[in-house]
Amino acid sequence: MPDNPISIARSFLEKGALVAIPTETVYGLAANGFNKNAVIKIFETKNRPLFDPLILHTDSIEKIKSFVKEIPPPALELAKKFWPGPLTLLLPKKEIVPDIVTSGLPDVAVRIPDHPLTLELLSQLDFPLAAPSANPFGYVSPTSAQHVQQQLGNKIAYILDGGECRVGIESTIVGFENGKAIIHRVGGLAVEEIEKIAGKAELRLNASSNPNAPGQLKSHYAPRKPLYVGDVAALQKKFPGKNYGVISFYKNYGGGNSIALSEKKNLHEAAHNLFKAIRTLDESDAEIIFAEIFPDEFLGRAINDRLRRAAAPEKI
Ligand code: TXA
Ligand code: MG
Repeated sequence: MPDNPISIARSFLEKGALVAIPTETVYGLAANGFNKNAVIKIFETKNRPLFDPLILHTDSIEKIKSFVKEIPPPALELAKKFWPGPLTLLLPKKEIVPDIVTSGLPDVAVRIPDHPLTLELLSQLDFPLAAPSANPFGYVSPTSAQHVQQQLGNKIAYILDGGECRVGIESTIVGFENGKAIIHRVGGLAVEEIEKIAGKAELRLNASSNPNAPGQLKSHYAPRKPLYVGDVAALQKKFPGKNYGVISFYKNYGGGNSIALSEKKNLHEAAHNLFKAIRTLDESDAEIIFAEIFPDEFLGRAINDRLRRAAAPEKI
């Protein structure tokens, strides 16, 4: 058995086993993306429906060209500008990508993540890593090795511990139609940044009825406790006598369970802290969770998206 963490991870992945990997967004549950039998284990371990396709992670555009038919010019520009980083591109797949990875769709989701350990690991592999977020299907994504350990630790071969995820919210997913960028999931790269490079983009997010974008299921990223999004003072009135926890942007609502995501009012910091805060309140003595609505711009959009899905189906 090798003794350094990257070699251990590599050795398990080469054998077709599952390894949790750190990325700048969230931890991924990785397997050899060219090995159908290894990929099936991801779906089983997460309890994930087979119609929900996976992202392939690798470390260079050259490697990506070996498994996609083409990278349209606006996609290549985004890739050059933002990779490694929290951007996922939908590109037409070649035969070598097993259908189970894309749930039978013609496009494959691809990304070069920005984490030194995982980039080093990927550089040593001659296959990409299929990796969804390393959480049971429908629950909040993990942003530390401890989160992964708590929920999947006894089901997977190894966790490559890369510390806390810097961005803390999943990648932004972008596809293309006739040269136009279509945003399928808002995430760690702001739409405003994408539009600077690719021009006006179309947002196609609320696709709960669209089987092509199941990561956009309305109820997702959800804690076990009921979560309500809205004006916190109004929510406090609506649920008198309830022991509540609060997730706010910067304001402190008092009590032991009020978490301000960024006292400096910084949306990057707020995104970084969001999933950890949801987990903390889920494990606290609060019975219900209230969350503020964040400014609907830059990473605030992704925060609002995750909070609304965490709150579905009951929304205020
Ligand atoms: O930041 C991230 O993207 C993290 C890290 C680990 O890279 N991964 C992640 O994976 O969030 P996952 O599986 O939890 O979400 C990926 C979503 C799927 O739910 C699906 O909606 C979308 O990507 N997706 C994947 N392939 C697609 C395709 N061919 N067409 C449309 N949507 C696709
Ligand atoms: Mg996920």
